[in-house]
Amino acid sequence: MALDQSLLKIIQPYTMVTQDRLENLALLGKYLNTDQIPGDFVECGAYRGGTAAILSQFLEPSRHLWLYDSFAGMPETTEKDGDAAKQWIGKCVASEQDVREVLQLVGTSPEHYTIQPGWFETTFKQTLPQQVALLHCDADWYNSVLLVLETFYPLMPVGGCVILDDFGHWEGCREAFYEFCDRHQERPVLERVGTDQAFWIKGRTHNRVPILALNQPPVPPVAQAELQASQCQIAQLQYQISQLQAEIEAMRSSKFWRLRTQWTRLKQFLSASRH
Ligand SMILES: C[S@@+](CC[C@H](N)C(=O)[O-])C[C@H]1O[C@@H](n2cnc3c(N)ncnc32)[C@H](O)[C@@H]1O
Repeated sequence: MALDQSLLKIIQPYTMVTQDRLENLALLGKYLNTDQIPGDFVECGAYRGGTAAILSQFLEPSRHLWLYDSFAGMPETTEKDGDAAKQWIGKCVASEQDVREVLQLVGTSPEHYTIQPGWFETTFKQTLPQQVALLHCDADWYNSVLLVLETFYPLMPVGGCVILDDFGHWEGCREAFYEFCDRHQERPVLERVGTDQAFWIKGRTHNRVPILALNQPPVPPVAQAELQASQCQIAQLQYQISQLQAEIEAMRSSKFWRLRTQWTRLKQFLSASRH
C-alpha cells in the first residue's frame, strides 16, 4: 500500500525499516480494520518509534498501541543467532523520548499508546493487552523473538497478524519461528516482503482469496460458474490467437511472401522513378 510521502519523510529518520516493509505494515493495519479483526496493536522492538508511527495511523478508537523496548540496545546473542549478530550487541540504542517525539509528529496522542521500557523478560510480566490483532516483532534475536511469540500469540484471534521483521536477515529470528511452530503445531501460510520481512495471518490455511477480502462473502455459485466459463473462453481465444500468430509468421518467412515483398518494392521503385 503506497504511503503518503509527507508521512514517510517524517518517520524515516526514526526507523531502520525499508519503505516496502513499512508499506506492508500499513497494508496489514488496513486489512485488520477492513476485516474488523478485534484487538490491540503490539510492537516488540520499538527502537526510535518509526514503525510504531506507521501502525499508529491505523488505530481505530477501539484499539491501543503497546510498545516494548529495552531502550538499552540489543541484548546478548546465543549460538542460534550466528556470529554476525555479535557485533550488534549493545547497538540500536534509542529513547522513550524519540518514540514520543515521532508519534507526536504524526498526530498520535499519548492516550492511544503505552510504552513499556525494559527487557521483555521483565516487562512481559506486567499487565498485557487483553487481545492482540497485530503483533509486530522486530526484536531480531532467537531468545527475544521466541519470548515475543510465546507471550502474545495466545492472545491473538483468528485473523490476527504476526509480522517478523528479520526472518530473512537473522538466523536466530528464523530459528525461533520454526521452534515456535514445532512446539505448537502451527503451520502458517508464511508470506515474504523483500529479503527480510515475513508475516502470516493466524488460522489462514490457503491463499485462494486475497488477504484484504478475508471476511467478504464468498462469490455465489452461479457467478462462480459464469466466471469459470468466461475464463475457459478467454483461454480458448488466447490459444486461437497464438495459432494465428504462428501461421502469420510461417507465411512471412515463406518463399512466396519474400517474392511478393520484393515485387511490391520493385513496383514502388519503378513508379517512383517514372515521376
Ligand atoms: C532493530 S531494532 C527495532 C527497529 C524499529 N522497529 C524500527 O522502526 O527501526 C530492535 C530493537 O529490539 C529491542 N530488543 C531486542 N530484544 C529485546 C529484549 N529482549 N528486550 C527488550 N528489547 C529488546 C532492542 O532494544 C532494539 O531497539
